[in-house]
Amino acid sequence: MALPIPETLPTSATPPCPHFGECGGCRMQMMSYEDQLELKQGIISQLLEREVPIIGSPDAYYYRHRMDYITAFGKVGLRKRGDGKTVVNLGECHIVQPRVSKLIPKVQQWIEDFNIRGYNIVTNRGDLRYFTIRHALSSDELMVVLVTSSTETAIEPLLERLQGEAESVVWSVQSRTGDDSHGEVQRIYGQETITQKVLGLDFAISPNCFFQNNLLLIDRMFEEIVKHVRGFTMDLFCGTGTIGLAAAEQAERILGVEVEPENIRLALENAQRNGISNVEFVTDNANHFLAFYEGDVPDTVIVDPPRSGLAPKFIRKLNRLNAERIVYVSCNPKTYLDDLRQLEGYELKEATAFDMFPQTPHAELVTLLERR
Ligand SMILES: C[S@@+](CC[C@H](N)C(=O)[O-])C[C@H]1O[C@@H](n2cnc3c(N)ncnc32)[C@H](O)[C@@H]1O
Repeated sequence: MALPIPETLPTSATPPCPHFGECGGCRMQMMSYEDQLELKQGIISQLLEREVPIIGSPDAYYYRHRMDYITAFGKVGLRKRGDGKTVVNLGECHIVQPRVSKLIPKVQQWIEDFNIRGYNIVTNRGDLRYFTIRHALSSDELMVVLVTSSTETAIEPLLERLQGEAESVVWSVQSRTGDDSHGEVQRIYGQETITQKVLGLDFAISPNCFFQNNLLLIDRMFEEIVKHVRGFTMDLFCGTGTIGLAAAEQAERILGVEVEPENIRLALENAQRNGISNVEFVTDNANHFLAFYEGDVPDTVIVDPPRSGLAPKFIRKLNRLNAERIVYVSCNPKTYLDDLRQLEGYELKEATAFDMFPQTPHAELVTLLERR
């Protein structure tokens, strides 16, 4: 969920994007970046009832690692603002790297040339659903994923054409209706993964894995998380192990838990690749894991849940676990505040916001809670 940003915003900058106003992707481009930060900081501070500093992105544009462009009605773009059934054909997109932006019009042309049927998001019919890009900034490696609605599709010429444009070209299938750009991988041309450096470590990124989206600010945010880590540390909702591995030197040992087997496979690969041995990764639902956990009480528990936040049952288990400190990383201030109210015996010691999503009403929070 986004921050509660007012519907009408003041104008203090000229939006660089010709699609601004129409495209639902960015809605704050008419504000200078300083004003965006000030607004977000004020809202977050009010919500948390304390002064929360906000760390801005080194560049307010060209920061995004992943974008899911919708390929509906022969267009390649994002949903129209306030109209989920219409897609804005993007000629430019300024929150991704120019290498990616330049590719979009070419893909639009090729879809037309090769007569590929775009997906109809109103009737749920058609072939090509998404053109997803994942760009690793540190290596400048690009992965493109064509997501189709079934295996019965004629995207071969597009897959072939894209091989000269990206280090990794993937075809995946998502047959369920709804808004999911993660599909079952059918074929990969070129590299199976691309590599991004975070705090000097190498991390593999696969077509469906989770990865933080602002690669210009990720190091700074992870430094803040690592700063709070002490002793035996649980990294719950660990994704591909990025936070745990970044904190491994500071911790005595790390135990990471994540529900998606693909993410854990990469976490183990990432540990090996970086020669880190004081880590263990478990594939499990974090709620289930904590319910049956009988090992040592961790000194630190890191939780970085999805937008839905923590389940009430999970919070009760966390209360009983009674770790000295909890580092709660959140992308949703609403669920964060709800969860905080249910955590018993903990005091909010430090909170820092990170503007991982400039031009949009989103932000990330890193907070330290200590047992009273
Ligand atoms: C916001 S991401 C954080 C990932 C990781 N900490 C990082 O920074 O790269 C949330 C992660 O939680 C995982 N997840 C969602 N529900 C879960 C659950 N019930 N138990 C364990 N992991 C879950 C998702 O697959 C995703 O990788």
